Amino acid sequence: MTRWDGTTVLTTSRLVLRTYRPDDLPGFAALNADPLVYEQLGGQPLSREHSDEIAEWAEECFEKDGLGLLAVERRSDGEYLGMCGLHHQESFPDDVEIAWRFASQHWGRGYATEAARAWLGYGFTELGLPRIISVTDLDNVRSIDLMKRLGMSFVENSVIVDDGMTFDGVLYAMASHQWAGHQTSG
Ligand SMILES: CC(C)(COP(=O)(O)OP(=O)(O)OC[C@H]1O[C@@H](n2cnc3c(N)ncnc32)[C@H](O)[C@@H]1OP(=O)(O)O)[C@@H](O)C(=O)NCCC(=O)NCCS
Repeated sequence: MTRWDGTTVLTTSRLVLRTYRPDDLPGFAALNADPLVYEQLGGQPLSREHSDEIAEWAEECFEKDGLGLLAVERRSDGEYLGMCGLHHQESFPDDVEIAWRFASQHWGRGYATEAARAWLGYGFTELGLPRIISVTDLDNVRSIDLMKRLGMSFVENSVIVDDGMTFDGVLYAMASHQWAGHQTSG
């Protein structure tokens, strides 16, 4: 049973990172049916039902073990921008993955970088994780650029399974000492 109460977990200069509310679901469904988004994800447009199921799964993960792909809201006007956070990726169950999915009208403004940096900080400092990984399709250039912008390092090419799909992907990672170094050098 999920709460859907929009609890704020983190804030950044422009963003609120919080649990989902029912009124986020239409925006999340629009994002999941956006051709620019699903082309990058390498799949098909998601139905409203499938989109709602993903949000529900994310809420349940966060309530169960404090890891979840939560909602991203813009502070200035309350606009729902997308999803970002930490979770267990099925191909690498012993690791924690950072992942993201933003509505295409909000790309190119650094929102994903800002949200992901906050979640990396949470993972390393609040949760004490030794490393955080990220995986994506080999040709998902925007996602790979984001991993590099965050200071993550290439680990290997890998066959990845996600939500029933198998694809040739790439694995990036950051260790806690790299995060600490990134903070003091930044
Ligand atoms: C992956 C994804 C989140 C990246 O979005 P993005 O807009 O490229 O990333 P950011 O929000 O960090 O924005 C970075 C861009 O904003 C610019 N920018 C502007 N202000 C900025 C700021 N304050 N900080 C950082 N970058 C800034 C950067 O120069 C960069 O520009 P570029 O696109 O010309 O290179 C987005 O493409 C997406 O949601 N894709 C679909 C879902 C997906 O593929 N998810 C991954 C599945 S594994």
